[in-house]
This record gives sequence, C-alpha cells and structure tokens, in this order.
Amino acid sequence: MIYPVLSAEEAAEFVQNGMNVGVSGFTIPGNPKKVPPAIAAKARREHEAGREFRINLFSGASTNDYTDGELSRAHAINFRAPYQSSPELRPRINAGELHYNDRHLSEMAQEFRYNYYGKMDVAIIEAQSITDDGEIVLGTAVGNSPTWLKVADKVIVEINDQLPESIRGLHDIYLPLDPPNRREIPIYSAHDRAGKPTAHVDPKKVLGVVYTSFPLGKNEAFTPVDETTRRIGENVCQFLIDEMASGRMPKSFLPIQSGVGNIANAVLDSLESSTQIPAFEMYTEVVQDSVLKLLESGRCKFASTCSMTFSHEAMVEFFNHSAQLHDKLLMRPSEISNNPEVIRRIGVISMNTAIEADLFGNINSSHVSGTRLMNGIGGSGDFTRNAYTSIFMCPSIKKDDCISTIVPMVTHVDHTVHSVDIIVTDQGVADLRFKDPNQCAEEIIEKAAHPVYRPLLREYLSLCKKGHVLQNQDLALSFHRTLALEKDMRKTDFSRFIVK
Ligand code: COA
Repeated sequence: MIYPVLSAEEAAEFVQNGMNVGVSGFTIPGNPKKVPPAIAAKARREHEAGREFRINLFSGASTNDYTDGELSRAHAINFRAPYQSSPELRPRINAGELHYNDRHLSEMAQEFRYNYYGKMDVAIIEAQSITDDGEIVLGTAVGNSPTWLKVADKVIVEINDQLPESIRGLHDIYLPLDPPNRREIPIYSAHDRAGKPTAHVDPKKVLGVVYTSFPLGKNEAFTPVDETTRRIGENVCQFLIDEMASGRMPKSFLPIQSGVGNIANAVLDSLESSTQIPAFEMYTEVVQDSVLKLLESGRCKFASTCSMTFSHEAMVEFFNHSAQLHDKLLMRPSEISNNPEVIRRIGVISMNTAIEADLFGNINSSHVSGTRLMNGIGGSGDFTRNAYTSIFMCPSIKKDDCISTIVPMVTHVDHTVHSVDIIVTDQGVADLRFKDPNQCAEEIIEKAAHPVYRPLLREYLSLCKKGHVLQNQDLALSFHRTLALEKDMRKTDFSRFIVK
C-alpha cells in the first residue's frame, strides 16, 4: 500500500485550530472512531497550554460518542452541522457554547460543493478498504463521504478490520453534477442503482491510513412497543389500508420512509402483521433492526438507505446471511437517499415523529418549548416536503398527561401545514387534506388530541378572533406558559393570559 500508516495521534496532528473537518457516517454507523478522540486529546493539550483549539465539524447526520461526545467534552467544536443527537453536545449547544446550524441532510454535501462553508481542510473517513488508486469501500453508512472525499484538501482513512469483505457491493455511490449542469438522477424505483459500489479519492490527498478494530452496530436497546406506540403503529397501518381502498394510494403500494426510534419501531412492527398492505420497498435514510426482520420475512422486498442503523446482534446476523440479503439492501449518499427529486418521483410515503403539532398542522420536530434543541430536523424536511403522503406521528400526551403534544401554536416551526398531510397519535388519524385551517383544527381536536385536552383546545378556538386562521396572539402560547409556571398544561386558564 502506498499510504503511510499513521497512529491516531499522528493523524490528529494534521488537524489545526479553526479547520473545517468532515467525518464519514450517518448516525452511529460509519463514523470514524479513533482519530476524533485523538483530536479531542490534542484540543485538551492545546487548551491547557492556553491556546485556542476548536474545529468546525461536518458530518452526514448525528455521529457516535467517539466524535460528537469526545469532541464536546474537550470543548473542541466551534461550529456543527447538519444534525446531532448527542447528550453531550446538546446541552452545550443550548448553553450557546458553540454554533449549530440545523440543515436538511440532503443539502449538506451540495452546500459544501457550492462553497457556502469555504474549503474543507480534512476529511476523516471510515472504510473497509482503500486501493492504491484511491478506490474506497465505505463502511456501514455512506453519509456525505463521497463529497468529503472530493472536496477535502486532505483525507485520513480509518480502516476498520471488523468490516467484512462482503460489504462490498452494498453501496451505490452516485454524485450529481452541480447546476447548471445537473441532470435527472436515474432512480425510478427504490431498488435502482445509479452509481458505483465504491467511492473515490485522489490518492495524492490521502495523508495516511489509521488501522482500527471496532465492533459494528450499536449497543442501545429500544424500549419495547408499549400500548401508546402500538396504537400509533396500528393507526398508521389502518390509514394506509384505507388509502389503498379509497383509491388515493396505488394498490401495489408505494415505498416508505421511516425513521428510527420507538414509534418508528412500532409502525414497522405493525407493517409486519398488516398483510392487507402488500410487501413493500423502503426508500429511507436509516434502517433499524425491525427492517432486518421485515427483509427476512419478505414483507419488505428492498431497503434503500443511507445507513445500516442495526444493533450489534442484527449487524452480525446481516453479514452472516449477507449472501441472501445482499440484493435486498443498498446504501446511498444522504444527498441521494434523501433527495427531493427522487422522493417526489417514486412517491415515498414519509413517516416522521413530531415533538408537537399545532391545531393548524404546523410541526415542531426539534425544539422543546421553542428554545431547547432536542436533535434537529434530520431528514424529516427532505421527506415531508416531497412525499406522496406525509405523515407525522406522536403520542397525544407526554410526561404523565402534563403535556399535550397538540397545542394551539407550536413554539418552533420545522414543517408547515403546507407540507403536512396527516397527523397520527394514539387517539387516531387527523387528515388535513382538502380542509381549510379551521377545519384542520376541528379534525385535529377530534381525531388526534387527547380527550383530556379537547375541551381546552375548543375553548381556545372560541377565544380566537375570526379570520382565515383562528388565532389569538395573547393566548397562542398559553399551554406552554402554563407548563412553565405550573408544570402541567391541564391547568391552563386562558383568563390569566388575556391582555386587558
Ligand atoms: N414537550 C416537551 N418535551 C417533549 C415533547 C413535548 N411535546 N415531546 C418530546 N419531548 C421530549 C421527551 O420528553 C424526551 O426528552 P427526555 O429524554 O428528556 O425525556 C425527548 O423529547 C425525546 O422524546 P421521546 O418521547 O423519547 O421521542 P423520540 O425518541 O421518538 O424522539 C423526536 C422524538 C421528535 C425528538 C425525534 O424523533 C427527532 O429528533 N426527530 C427529528 C429528526 C427526524 O425526524 N429525523 C428523520 C427520521 S430519522
């Protein structure tokens, strides 16, 4: 091999204060694991010596604790994009310690190519292998690696010896040209391949290779499906069955997008048993263990994803059976897995989770009480805005009934009613299509809000000024103000907030 073999510490020495650094991966899979902690250690040494050391960190989506966790604890991040879900990074963002730019995941790569962020100094890419002419087999996620390899001045490659050779062929690396030369992306169904199985880097840019040995997959267990998430899953499936019966959705069905987490898990569980829904394809950004089950049972015929977000056990199972599963799954760059053009063309049914929804169908996915960042929008905007049918899901109440997720006005807007078709809670399905804003409010109260909160929500509407949208600016955030004052939205007393 022509590339120098580096220790993580030697690799970290190439990273300087103020640099733009890109990392491979998408959520936990595919991130580098040895060099970021070495950069964190370097940052600590620099800080102890009284010198500034903070980098601007760009990824595919959230990362692992070796990256966001280690670098946060070392106070080594100045700017972060496009998404995070780190319990270490989150409080530091909320405290204003660093800058966080929550971006649509499909846009990050092209924004770098458009030069929005200046040059990328160093990319750190986990891979299964690299050849002397720069052909790279990536790991268990693609993220933005193909673009990072193209735009970065210098590249460090972490070769993880736990990545099996059979991963070769699971990637479909396609990079669109940039405007004005862009053409259509040649994907017409979820299983179409548009690119090559390998990514490419100019070998002259490779600073060296760091050898690692980290088990694949994540350790976190999902909370088992409970009564609330089971009902949400069943409501989503019944809605899809009704859509096919009514002729609004083709009987052959459409590809689905589904996120990770307990609600997504419950929906996928329900899809396993809802045999009135034909076997389907997924066009999505992440696939969790429940998708592996669906692939094995044949309920899911094909999964196009950006990242294999499997547990360690599921990852082992996948690669043990990779001969059977190899032609049922592929991983694309996030720019393609989340691409608006493709999502719109193939008619993806999007299913995402909301923190809260308002009476008019606006969705808050990212900020608790309007100020405290939870994670970010992730791919929810890419899919919602372009879906054949866009669905948002959430439990109708949270925190021992003290929080209604259906509120008069959301405290932060990520997705407007113009992009949202359906809101599903454990209570039922609110269909916002073919309705004006005030009809949406009636529908959401009747079908999605918890019965405990329905009288308060109706009272709110009765106190609103007439208009195309019923709204009362004095009272719109009274649920949240009551939560802040009384820790319980059920205690909302509108008279307390009316400005005399
Ligand atoms: N008011 C106050 N807090 C709320 C809330 C509300 N209406 N809804 C959720 N939360 C809090 C929960 O209490 C919990 O906080 P805690 O851990 O301190 O208890 C946290 O938000 C996460 O909620 P949880 O019930 O565990 O749901 P989840 O794990 O399914 O996450 C989102 C829900 C919205 C935060 C998550 O889906 C997300 O980040 N979405 C945006 C990204 C996205 O959609 N990506 C595309 C698909 S991968």
